[in-house]
Amino acid sequence: MIFDRNENKQVIALLGAGSMGAAIVRRIAPGKKILLGDISEKNLEKVAHDFQYSGYDVETMIVNALEKDSVEAFANKAASLGDVMYFIDTAGASPNQAAPEHILNLDMVGTGYAVDAFGKVMAKGGAGLLISSQTGYMYPIPYEVENEILNTPTEKLMDLPFIKEVAMQNSGFAYMIAKRINHLQAMRAAATSWKERRARINTISPGVIVTPLAYDEFAAAGEGYQQMVDASAAERCGTSDEIADAGAFLLGEHAGFITGTDLLIDGGVIASIRTGNYQLPVQ
Ligand SMILES: NC(=O)c1ccc[n+]([C@@H]2O[C@H](COP(=O)([O-])OP(=O)(O)OC[C@H]3O[C@@H](n4cnc5c(N)ncnc54)[C@H](O)[C@@H]3O)[C@@H](O)[C@H]2O)c1
Repeated sequence: MIFDRNENKQVIALLGAGSMGAAIVRRIAPGKKILLGDISEKNLEKVAHDFQYSGYDVETMIVNALEKDSVEAFANKAASLGDVMYFIDTAGASPNQAAPEHILNLDMVGTGYAVDAFGKVMAKGGAGLLISSQTGYMYPIPYEVENEILNTPTEKLMDLPFIKEVAMQNSGFAYMIAKRINHLQAMRAAATSWKERRARINTISPGVIVTPLAYDEFAAAGEGYQQMVDASAAERCGTSDEIADAGAFLLGEHAGFITGTDLLIDGGVIASIRTGNYQLPVQ
């Protein structure tokens, strides 16, 4: 059986073959070559199987987002398959899944490795999307510290006093700060390495989206989490498909003037916090 005789397809690389990543890729997948990277063989097999039996052209690769060499090998593999037009990074761990150091190494440094590596292989006109979080709006980082972060190479982020003294306090701080830093990572890349390749890069900051990760958060944070969702304008959690709708827009040609910015998609949670309708529990 030959379902598709086209050659030289545009490449979509997804790092983190989880719920949100799979939904985003599916929106833009027809006629493209998909490369899935994940540390979990089980997740890779599941998503690749679904894609393959839905008519998509897919390959997989074990990638550890914590390791620079592994991420660079993933970017090079993507480039070997054709023009890398799309890169999506959803590899992450949430506060109740890991210790602060792991969260910072994965959600902050690992994302930095990926942005740096794909900043060397993106095709002209390509687009990238990092999945941050609404929590990136919950802990304001002082302006001068953000400037320092913007000027710090990925390998040195963990050495910054702010990271050692503030972000390492607990997993909640680590996650909020890592996710804000994702916005800065997209901002910096959009103005430097990705700009040089004529590629765009943005972040989406989702609110509570029902995925295995959200099940873990609900199980651990329970009542507080429920109250936060109940206080929001939407009064419900979101779905991966809603993130995928926005992701497809940001990755697509209608977003050609959008780069280096973030789109908050949280059903109104941050609005409810900023207006005092919901108060975050003291960390
Ligand atoms: N679900 C939510 O409510 C929510 C809200 C805001 C932000 N996010 C963020 O969205 C992203 C995607 O989350 P999701 O809900 O789709 O979760 P998910 O658990 O379905 O997907 C995450 C994927 O990352 C992979 N991964 C973990 N460590 C890795 C590593 N070292 N190397 C490579 N891959 C690794 C996992 O195996 C998994 O497939 C995460 O960054 C998360 O922090 C999630």
